[in-house]
Amino acid sequence: MMTVDDQTLRTMVDAARRASEAAYCPYSRFRVGAAVLGEDGAIVGGCNVENASYGLTSCAERNAIFAAVAQGMTAIRAVVVFTPTATPTAPCGACRQVIHEFGPGAEIISVCEGPDRLRARLPELLPGAFGPRSLDPADDPKRPLA
Ligand code: THU
Repeated sequence: MMTVDDQTLRTMVDAARRASEAAYCPYSRFRVGAAVLGEDGAIVGGCNVENASYGLTSCAERNAIFAAVAQGMTAIRAVVVFTPTATPTAPCGACRQVIHEFGPGAEIISVCEGPDRLRARLPELLPGAFGPRSLDPADDPKRPLA
């Protein structure tokens, strides 16, 4: 499985940082930016968008992925999350599930203003995930044999 090279990672971190500047977060004041890397090398950014109803808030990671899918990217190699904090932040559970749909083996890299980084593969963050294959009738344990 390929690992994101340093040059690509720098470009992704820049994209995630830039995306965080557009964050709409008047309630939490917690700015987040994300960048996703497609199989073809394209990079798409996204930021968190909050709502007065609070619960309709959508995270930077999901917004980046949905924007990427709208551009035709359906296979994701890596996700970078940027927060302007002293320590890095891992993606929330809902975002892990959405990442799984398009990048079940994706690298997840969290960066911040400080020097610390988190670097993991999605299966470490979401073991035993429910995914597209779970809907395959061939995986049904109660299916009739042959
Ligand atoms: N948030 C993200 O955008 N990504 C994360 O990984 C964690 C949380 C947003 C949601 C909300 O707008 C704010 O950060 C505080 O939770």
